[in-house]
Amino acid sequence: MSRADALVAWYRAHRRDLPWRRDPRPWPVWVSEVMLQQTRVESVLPYFARFLERFPTPAALAAAPLDDVLAAWAGLGYYRRARHLHQAAQQVVERHGGEVPDDPEAFAALAGVGRYTCGAVQSIAFGRRLPVLDGNVERVLCRLYRVEDDPRGPAPRRRLWDAASALADHPHPGEVNQALMELGATVCTPRSPRCLLCPLQADCAARAAGVAEDLPRKAKRKARPTITVVAGLARDPDGAVWVARRPDDGLLAGLWELPGLEAPDADARHLAGVGLVGGGEATVVEHGFTHRVWAVHVYRARGTPTTAHHTAVRAVPEAELPTLALTGPALKALRACGVKLPHRRGAGRKRLS
Ligand code: ADE
Repeated sequence: MSRADALVAWYRAHRRDLPWRRDPRPWPVWVSEVMLQQTRVESVLPYFARFLERFPTPAALAAAPLDDVLAAWAGLGYYRRARHLHQAAQQVVERHGGEVPDDPEAFAALAGVGRYTCGAVQSIAFGRRLPVLDGNVERVLCRLYRVEDDPRGPAPRRRLWDAASALADHPHPGEVNQALMELGATVCTPRSPRCLLCPLQADCAARAAGVAEDLPRKAKRKARPTITVVAGLARDPDGAVWVARRPDDGLLAGLWELPGLEAPDADARHLAGVGLVGGGEATVVEHGFTHRVWAVHVYRARGTPTTAHHTAVRAVPEAELPTLALTGPALKALRACGVKLPHRRGAGRKRLS
């Protein structure tokens, strides 16, 4: 039995029952693969169901205002994924009559579709013999072939894509690919891999050498600077919460947050920069991005915020806050202040952006 055959047999016996596997049509598969980038399965599940209910076809997504799309994504993070998917859905309507193209070249030409997404969707939904390489698959292959170099380097990367391509050259490439992902998620885990449960244990070069747990070997990332942000929780006379929309480019572009700004220290007086007068500190929340960490100091505040650092401000009744495309830090801050925001989960990132 080939390695790919062993993977498929194992996958059929052990795969988790996930909604996009029950319904492997191209659109749900595509949505799931975009949501699953950098995000854990458990975090994706509630978003996936709601998103498909709201946008059951590429045409439905293409027709929706971007704000509605971002609101449906609020809390999942990496909002560029949502913008790209929205744009790609419009391209699918324009170029392919609303049907996800059963053609890797045409699919790869759509907004936001890189080699991973192309391989995943085209193999799972259309049976194309194309590889995938995400963090889980990278770990499995680094161990299987005992790749000792940092897999982010260009030469190891090429070697890993080649290895993944060889495995996916199989009559059931979608199952081979999902088996690799599943193995990485459930057996070939970063710490304490459960090698005795692995269908490739006899073939695994890292296991033979006793170094499975040491791979992949990655150079340490630089420590991220912590940036202080001061924000105000202010209400209008009716009790609605003031929120402000971030600029259209840069970090968290176009999303809503509590009015606030980056500041040299956590002094509430900095809130004057957004037109507010700060009172007592309500909470402090931390939020990590790829290159920085925010320490957000939230103060009870008075006044009407200005647009000095934002493109718009609005007072929104608490009951309507869940419909807004809020930033992850704003979701955390509002929740910490006792505002009920159902079904929005900011935790569960695999890595922070
Ligand atoms: N991670 C990325 N794609 C996945 C899939 N199809 N199933 C489970 N986890 C995944």
